[in-house]
Amino acid sequence: MLKCIAVMTSGGDSPGMNAAARAVVRTAISENVRVWGINNGYKGMLEDDMCELNSHSVSDLIQRGGTFLGTARSEQFKTTEGRQLGLANLKKHGIDGLVIIGGDGSLRGGALLAQMGMPVVGLPGTIDNDVWGSDYTIGADTAANTIVEAINKLRDTASAHRRIILIEVMGRKSGWLAMMSGIAGGAEYVLVPEVKFDLDEICTEIKASYLTGKRYSIIVVAEGVGSAVDIGKIVAEKTEIDTRVSVLGHIQRGGSPSVEDRMKASMLGERAALALISGTSDVVLGFDLGKVVSINLHDAVNHKKTLDPELIRLARVLA
Ligand code: F6P
Repeated sequence: MLKCIAVMTSGGDSPGMNAAARAVVRTAISENVRVWGINNGYKGMLEDDMCELNSHSVSDLIQRGGTFLGTARSEQFKTTEGRQLGLANLKKHGIDGLVIIGGDGSLRGGALLAQMGMPVVGLPGTIDNDVWGSDYTIGADTAANTIVEAINKLRDTASAHRRIILIEVMGRKSGWLAMMSGIAGGAEYVLVPEVKFDLDEICTEIKASYLTGKRYSIIVVAEGVGSAVDIGKIVAEKTEIDTRVSVLGHIQRGGSPSVEDRMKASMLGERAALALISGTSDVVLGFDLGKVVSINLHDAVNHKKTLDPELIRLARVLA
């Protein structure tokens, strides 16, 4: 049984990180285990920016996006000396286990700490939904809802003007978020880095659909595909249809978490604290088919989650 653990968030923030950290803190306290919060991710670990938390420290948080612990990127943590300094800071405070909430890069950092002897349990926290072994990541549902809301609004104006509108969404390396929101938002096309597409063919199809009375076309573009502004220029030229582009940006990362994100983050936070306290390490807890699952941390960071071919197919059928 561990006596003192810490929780941190790292990488891009995501709605629901607060709910997960809150659950870690309250679970630890209910197990009579001390719990610390590390501020600003690995940067804070190296700068010894951490403090002990109590139940009130995580009040008024479940409904908030972002992360009360803060998050940052740290170049120094990528070096062995940096990580040794981080470990020394944790040990100084008697911290003997760590819950890390973040995306694949952050979990990779956790795997390195685990190899150096620090017990680590990871939670998938990213709007990108790209952590291997889990069909869910904290924040992706809220972000997808934000995008769908934007698509609804863009469709209104696109339809009024008979325009094509491209909406660029996040996902530098992964098309999951674009695919989820494209299908749920009823987009005509979803362009993702994982799937080759033929812009000529798309433009021909759009032109033909306008000739038969269609009033709008929504194209969701994952940022990993390239700039929607550039793609929009080509689409406008080839179709000769009035085209506009909307780059959603960081709006999609913020906001109050959805019920799904609050629930799942809370479940994962509790399970992570219990697992860590009881001596489990080197795992990521995620969801598979609605159930909490435990994934080997090293497997999770060494594999790339692929985009579900069923979703790619569905997006095409329903367009
Ligand atoms: O959190 C992951 C992510 O949202 C990516 O989809 C996106 O490319 C990136 O973060 C943006 O990061 P930053 O906030 O550093 O611009």
